[in-house]
Amino acid sequence: MSISETTRAQLEELVARYPRPRSALMPMLHLMQSLDGEVTPDGIDACAELAGVSPAEATAVASFYTMYRRSPGGAHHIGVCINTLCGLLGGDAVYEALSERLGVGHDQTTPDGRFTLERIECQAACTHAPVMTVDWEFMDDVTPTSAVDVVDRLERGETVRSTRGPVIRTWRDTERSLAFPDDGLAAEGTPVDAKMLAGLSLAKERGMAAPTTAQEGR
Ligand code: FES
Repeated sequence: MSISETTRAQLEELVARYPRPRSALMPMLHLMQSLDGEVTPDGIDACAELAGVSPAEATAVASFYTMYRRSPGGAHHIGVCINTLCGLLGGDAVYEALSERLGVGHDQTTPDGRFTLERIECQAACTHAPVMTVDWEFMDDVTPTSAVDVVDRLERGETVRSTRGPVIRTWRDTERSLAFPDDGLAAEGTPVDAKMLAGLSLAKERGMAAPTTAQEGR
């Protein structure tokens, strides 16, 4: 089954945003996920054709980056960072609690299609370890109890906000934002807080500055 004319038009809109068609490949794959809930073989073929690459090259991109799914994802994607800092500070326990609550393991989706659970790598948010993401929005400093509570509230249909402000939508909604990041949502919330800037603030307080590099010294 090929893609619809509407989908093709949206893919072409993405291609038109970049100097070279192949530069649009990653947003195109995110768009296909937002529409199909995964990157399907038809989606790969359409993206490859419009990006001017071979299906094999498009498949290589879709299979290299773990944010692209080759099987259907749930309504909400729950990611738990289990890299060193998060793992040591409780990420492993958070993952175990969620796995027990949802009854699924890594990269599995609940039978009702509502949640996909995934162990994820460092999200560059170590300041707030352990970190969990819900549809790629941050939940900072989580505990097993607070993580399960987020799932409970989503399941009850309550409005849930990231600890940084934005309202949790759905995984497909986020995928669309990744394809079209100029939807006005990027500036929502508080991406940087005092804890993240603590080192910089202390350095300023003490009059510390980074040493000049050899190049700057010339
Ligand atoms: S180790 Fe978890 S965000 Fe960096």
